[in-house]
Amino acid sequence: MSAPQQQGAAPQQPHHHPAPQTTVPLQGAAIEAESEENSEVDSTLGESDASSFTTSLASSVVDYPYENGRRYHKFREGEYLYPNDEPEQDRLDMLHHIYRLMLGGSLHKAALPPSPQRVIDLGTGTGIWALDFADEYPSATVEGVDLSPIQPRWIPPNCKFIVDDIEAEWPYPTEQAFDYIHQRNMVGSVGDWDRLYEQAYKHTKPGGYIELQEFRVDFLSQQGPLPENSEINKWQKQINAGTASFGKPLNVIEDLANKLKAAGFVDVHEDILKIPIGAWPKDKNLKLIGQFMQLHAIESVEPLTLALFTRVLGWTELECQVLIGKVQEEFKTSRKQLFVYTHFITGRKADRAHSED
Ligand SMILES: C[S@@+](CC[C@H](N)C(=O)[O-])C[C@H]1O[C@@H](n2cnc3c(N)ncnc32)[C@H](O)[C@@H]1O
Repeated sequence: MSAPQQQGAAPQQPHHHPAPQTTVPLQGAAIEAESEENSEVDSTLGESDASSFTTSLASSVVDYPYENGRRYHKFREGEYLYPNDEPEQDRLDMLHHIYRLMLGGSLHKAALPPSPQRVIDLGTGTGIWALDFADEYPSATVEGVDLSPIQPRWIPPNCKFIVDDIEAEWPYPTEQAFDYIHQRNMVGSVGDWDRLYEQAYKHTKPGGYIELQEFRVDFLSQQGPLPENSEINKWQKQINAGTASFGKPLNVIEDLANKLKAAGFVDVHEDILKIPIGAWPKDKNLKLIGQFMQLHAIESVEPLTLALFTRVLGWTELECQVLIGKVQEEFKTSRKQLFVYTHFITGRKADRAHSED
């Protein structure tokens, strides 16, 4: 990372979030479906108050390009294929809520000490995770790094946002290593995971933690494989091929635990949760998560498709819109008990006594 550009910070009273109680099944478990399916999407679920802003940041960073009706990042232009506009920010904030529901209200799975100090959020997006973490852990100084300065301006004093590229050389002195490195929803954004985790390891304190929270982008059905003519199936095959040929494959989560180990992290632990898409589960909490997931799936089709399919796969915007409409329709109407897996991977840098550093 180089030449970070810091945004202004302003004090705000910390507040604490109640931890909702929910249970999410592990991979392999069957989720009991409700007898009468109700896959209607509640149109109020997607409302969010995420807002964009303009700051005195260099225009080279905020002079955002527009393409096919969506807005993209300017810093390291072209490196990241998904938009940074308000609809995308709403989508990311909805995902944050879904993750908190999955984790019973918590922001992490790593067994963090009660007073973590230095924390970094790689690819922070709207900064919503970093802001919540800073609120809940006043001992911590949380740094959110992103290509896009789309985070709020009024932030707690123990949080800051930096415009930078996490794949470039990290600018931090090693004596200011992190207690906790957090990465969420970054598959499809990184070309060289080995290098990323080598840098992460170097910049983790002995005894410190790394945590990855990622979806496996593979839509499955509890009733057997999706048919070949499923629009969702066709779409995800194209996404996998396109992101691989772009050099930042989306479907890498199954490799990342081993990459953490190869970088030197120990006690690497992976939990794989089964997350419904749609209101089909009988269990109340899973039904709620499923409703949000269905809405999120519908809203993710366009941002995940437009730049990838036009820039990398050579489709026209019109061809994309036809496909987007069909895939959204299937997410709205499918009665196939759709689900995805979410991976939570934690690792630790050995204590100094055991570390080779
Ligand atoms: C799918 S979003 C996830 C945002 C956030 N982690 C969350 O879970 O809400 C991916 C984010 O990574 C950022 N990003 C992608 N490549 C990056 C890079 N090389 N360096 C820094 N940020 C990057 C994008 O700008 C985007 O905000």
